[in-house]
Amino acid sequence: MKTDPKTFHVKSFGCQMNVYDGDRMAELMAAQGLTATDDVNAADLVVLNTCHIREKATEKVYSDIGRIRKHAKADGRSPMIAVAGCVAQAEGEEIVRRAKVDVVVGPQAYHNLPQLVRRATDGSAAIDTDMPAESKFGALPARRRVAPGAFLTVQEGCDKFCTYCVVPYTRGAEVSRPFAAIVDEARALVDAGAREITLLGQNVNGWRDAQGRGLEALIHALDRIEGLARIRYTTSHPNDMTEGLIDAHAQVEKLMPFLHLPVQAGSNRVLKAMNRSHDRDSYLQLIDRIRAVRPDIALSGDFIVGFPGETEAEFEETLGLVDAVGYAQAFSFKYSARPGTPAAGMAGEIAPEVMDERLQRLQAALNRDQAAFNAATAGRRCTVLIERRGKLAGQMLGKSPWLQSVHVMTDAPIGSLVDVEIVSAGPNSVAGVELVQRAA
Ligand code: SAH
Ligand code: SF4
Ligand code: F3S
Repeated sequence: MKTDPKTFHVKSFGCQMNVYDGDRMAELMAAQGLTATDDVNAADLVVLNTCHIREKATEKVYSDIGRIRKHAKADGRSPMIAVAGCVAQAEGEEIVRRAKVDVVVGPQAYHNLPQLVRRATDGSAAIDTDMPAESKFGALPARRRVAPGAFLTVQEGCDKFCTYCVVPYTRGAEVSRPFAAIVDEARALVDAGAREITLLGQNVNGWRDAQGRGLEALIHALDRIEGLARIRYTTSHPNDMTEGLIDAHAQVEKLMPFLHLPVQAGSNRVLKAMNRSHDRDSYLQLIDRIRAVRPDIALSGDFIVGFPGETEAEFEETLGLVDAVGYAQAFSFKYSARPGTPAAGMAGEIAPEVMDERLQRLQAALNRDQAAFNAATAGRRCTVLIERRGKLAGQMLGKSPWLQSVHVMTDAPIGSLVDVEIVSAGPNSVAGVELVQRAA
């Protein structure tokens, strides 16, 4: 037997959709009368909201569980541990066998977390990895207080089946939430303090509703919400970048000039083996079209080095593509073979030292371009959404329209939009000077 938990802590790993899910689970447990604690080692219930994307991410869960248990044992406590997220979906009961956790709950079932926790108080593990046809969203409590920059999941799952990726298995098929439910949630977020909303989906630009409307319809609807100052969306697949969505970047002032558009590799042979369904040229042409309507757009991407069979020449095509695009920021990863994916069975494994060396070269190029992008914004005027306090007295941190971190000396509170001139740029952030003194 375990006693009913009174306090909880949710820790999310992985993508922004997990951050969103983690917030929703926290709201759900708070609605049950539990109190949130920032200290993972003080909580009666620890929810680990996990990521399965690379082997390292998955293994982290098990080391975390070990650490939490060790700490609790030293204090004479035995907290309940719930594993949520993509590892829960992928490994299910295996997690209970390996780590004796109390609850395992998949990304489509977490509205059942309170019942699962109650069931687990009798000492047996409670597992729910169903992907019900009925969406979990209707069963979640309303949003309360949120940060100035809020996430809103509009689409889940993936039908693209890139050969290296677990997401189609852990998150299931592509499902779009209904238009009205999303607009209602966006209004609730704004009422709860959000000034910027990032629409989320594993393939967010694949969002479609029953009438065939695409993501741009949602963006236009959010544009009309008073009090909402900024709109973003992520992550997009190149094949779902429609003309309507591209045009929205010219039409909607609130839509920020930033686009995360993963390409993964620069060689057509590798892209084909990855089942990416776009090639190098179609990607570059797409970038040209987007830049034609929004010349100042900041581009971001994801890259994988060391996909099975990747030759030095093919890797150099990735470097060439990076040079051609000039990314403002990017994420790059070493290929990690994932159980059950087609690529895991492909020949041509790349030696770890070759992967390391390629990743270093790629990251050097991406860092160079990020620094160049930041430097090119020096002298520009823009708004900054203030998100938190900086280290220095009077210093605040926020985001530029191009998603750069900006330091600014201001007495403007968190959640304000401040006009600045960017005066200096570093590799990972820029400094802004406030332009007008606001009325007190
Ligand atoms: N839906 C998004 C991102 C999904 S996962 C998209 O299609 O772009 C985020 C990133 O993790 C991917 O873009 C990819 O670069 C990386 N990734 C996915 N599976 C991986 C694997 N097996 N090994 C290494 N990186 C991987
Ligand atoms: Fe994974 Fe590809 Fe789907 Fe992105 S598009 S989630 S990389 S399968
Ligand atoms: Fe990870 Fe699942 Fe997101 S595998 S990247 S948490 S969709």
